[in-house]
Amino acid sequence: MDFVIDKEKCIHCGQCIKDCVSGIIEFNDDNFPYITDENRCIKCQHCLAVCPTGALKIFNKNPENSELTNNFPTDEQLLNLIKSRRSYRHYKAENISKDLMDKLKNMLKYPPTGCNFHKLHFSIIEDIEVMDKFRDMTNSKIKKLFSTKKLSSIVNKFSKYKDAFLNGEDVIFRDCPHMIVVSSPINAPCAPEDAIINLSYFELYAQSLNIGTLWCGFAEICLKVFPDLCEYLEIPDGYKPMYVMLFGLPDIHYTRTVQPEGYQITSVNNKPIKMSLLKKIKRYFWNFIR
Ligand SMILES: Cc1cc2nc3c(=O)[nH]c(=O)nc-3n(C[C@H](O)[C@H](O)[C@H](O)COP(=O)(O)O)c2cc1C
Repeated sequence: MDFVIDKEKCIHCGQCIKDCVSGIIEFNDDNFPYITDENRCIKCQHCLAVCPTGALKIFNKNPENSELTNNFPTDEQLLNLIKSRRSYRHYKAENISKDLMDKLKNMLKYPPTGCNFHKLHFSIIEDIEVMDKFRDMTNSKIKKLFSTKKLSSIVNKFSKYKDAFLNGEDVIFRDCPHMIVVSSPINAPCAPEDAIINLSYFELYAQSLNIGTLWCGFAEICLKVFPDLCEYLEIPDGYKPMYVMLFGLPDIHYTRTVQPEGYQITSVNNKPIKMSLLKKIKRYFWNFIR
């Protein structure tokens, strides 16, 4: 493994040893860190990130190419972004700029993945004409489904929107110019979580760039039901489409935040647990039911 210590810069602080999640960094006889068992490395690069003097290179990543972590938005700015996020259902019929698209694509590699598995796949429709094609293909398949009444459970999910759909309204894709589909390898330890976390970050980052987004459960169902759509999107073998997000320049402006009801929040106090067998069984049921 490529784990190189710059002996001029290392101050022997042991931060890399302390923070290694696999516990595989130790001091050698000269008091410089080294890796004891590279097979257990999860490639998180925490050792590179935590080193205060930039003395540690791993996987050929030079600390000089990392950014310094001192440029956070304020809590107020971030909370305002979270509060101002909306689901957009009206888009301009135009592509976003290449610069914005590149910014969005570049962000995708930063959100966390379980066990640092880091093997998501993204299919992105970057051109409105391709999106129109994809929309037409999908909508004609749904139309066929409505007429044959096959797969009635899926048809039921759409039933609320059936009339609007048959009247030619784009109830699934909302005339959106772009779409991102995140897929996880079927053997990923946290396949759904990795994908949803990624798109959650994507959504907020897009919002900060004045790009609207829409989580698209309908499109996700379509990908599962019509496998040729997965082929069209070049989702690799062994990968499962996990979620779909539409995005583009908004054709609507939200002037103010909404005022959602609060959730139940329990502040947990120290106390003994008393639990009947029946309650235990119920807990198992609630914990494991899908
Ligand atoms: C997992 C998920 C799936 C969704 N699927 C759709 C969808 O298929 N079509 C749609 O119009 N909105 C969809 N939405 C958007 C929700 O309806 C939306 O979040 C809700 O109306 C509240 O609006 P807001 O996001 O602006 O707060 C979805 C949202 C989530 C989180």
